[in-house]
Amino acid sequence: MSETAKRNAAEAALTLVEPGMVLGLGTGSTAAIFVRLLAEKVKAGLDIVGTPTSEATDRLAKELGIRIVDPNELTRIDLTIDGADEFDPQLRLIKGGGAALLREKIIADASTRMAVITDPSKEVAQLGRFPLPIEINPFAAELTRRQIDITAEMLGMTQATSSWRMATGESRLRTDGGHMILDLNCVAIPDANELAAALDVIPGVVEHGLFIGYADIVIIGEETGARTIERGDET
Ligand code: 5RP
Repeated sequence: MSETAKRNAAEAALTLVEPGMVLGLGTGSTAAIFVRLLAEKVKAGLDIVGTPTSEATDRLAKELGIRIVDPNELTRIDLTIDGADEFDPQLRLIKGGGAALLREKIIADASTRMAVITDPSKEVAQLGRFPLPIEINPFAAELTRRQIDITAEMLGMTQATSSWRMATGESRLRTDGGHMILDLNCVAIPDANELAAALDVIPGVVEHGLFIGYADIVIIGEETGARTIERGDET
């Protein structure tokens, strides 16, 4: 994704921000561009507060002078702006490429609106080309992994393979919450709703990166501007 496309998506998302809003601040490179642009507006007098979806975004926003509120203190989040790894024509998303999917989903779920900032490479007819990130409790993680592999096969994804996300070196990556990430390379997900429902009932799965029914608007940055798809417009 080019920096220009990311910036155009982030700039378009800024137009959704109104004074007095409580904003959920997403994670990833596109969300970081949005946070930087937002900080410029704050410096120029825009009155908003943000709540972050990761430690990285928390640090960035604070460094840039955005007022950050602990989500525990909030009763409402007006708008969350976040990136995505894939979106389909029904505005269903794969998220978690940056390992922040649990916090991202908690914040998106508590938000009145969610705007997703992306680029054309993330637009797919069918989800699943991007390996699905699944956040796993470390207890009996290999057992949970086997349950997930069996589930994928039972749902017809016979080509699916899973792998632990690694940190630098030999160790497995740990999320901000101390969990592990299993990347499930599905190749294609024939029924995303069915897969989400099946993962939801595996006890060792803390959360998965299928965001279904969360996105209200997807902003697709391009080289010369941005286009949007809103819930209700989708095919
Ligand atoms: C982090 C995410 C990101 O939003 C997603 O990976 C997109 O990131 P980028 O804007 O860098 O492509 O879900 O967990």
